[in-house]
Amino acid sequence: MKHAIYPGSFDPMTLGHLDVIERAAQMFDTLTVSVLNNVAKSPLFSVEERVKILEEATAHLKNVKIDSFSGLLIDYCAKKDVHIVIRGLRAITDFEYELQIAQTNRKLSKGQVDTIFLTTSLEYAYLSSSSVKEIASFHGDISQCVPEFLVDRIHNKFS
Ligand code: PNS
Repeated sequence: MKHAIYPGSFDPMTLGHLDVIERAAQMFDTLTVSVLNNVAKSPLFSVEERVKILEEATAHLKNVKIDSFSGLLIDYCAKKDVHIVIRGLRAITDFEYELQIAQTNRKLSKGQVDTIFLTTSLEYAYLSSSSVKEIASFHGDISQCVPEFLVDRIHNKFS
C-alpha cells in the first residue's frame, strides 16, 4: 500500500495546502497530513485546532488522515512505517530551504525517507500562512486564501 506523509505547520492551512493535499491524495492509497507541534513557536492556532481544521477541510477525501507529531520528521516516518514525504513548492525561493530539508532527511534516515515535491497550482503560488496572518491582522480580505469556513475563525483570533 502506498502511503505518504505531508508534514507542515499549517498555521493556518491555506487553499494552497488544500490543493497539494487533494493532488497528493490521488497519487497514494493513504495520505497522512501531519501538523508539527513546534514548542519553539507561538502559533495562531493550537495543534488541536489545526488538526480539527484540517479534518474539516479534507472531510471529502476518504484516504486522507490528519495527525500531529513532535520531534524529527524522520522518527515520525519510521514510527508510521512511511518512506515518502510530500512538500509543496511555490517558487524558486522555496527551493533552497526545501532541498536542504529533503537532503537532510534522506541522509539522517539512511535513505529511508525520500521527498516528493508538488508544484503549487499557479493560482495559489502567491499564498503563504504568514501572509494570511498578516492580512487578517489588519482585518483584510482573506476569502481567496483559505477555505470559507475558516475565514471568520482566523479573523476572530485578531478581534
Ligand atoms: O509548514 P512548514 O513550517 O514549512 O513545515 C516545516 C516542517 C514541519 C516540514 C519541518 O520544519 C519539519 O519537518 N520539522 C520537524 C523537525 C525536523 O525533522 N527537521 C528536519 C531536519 S532539518
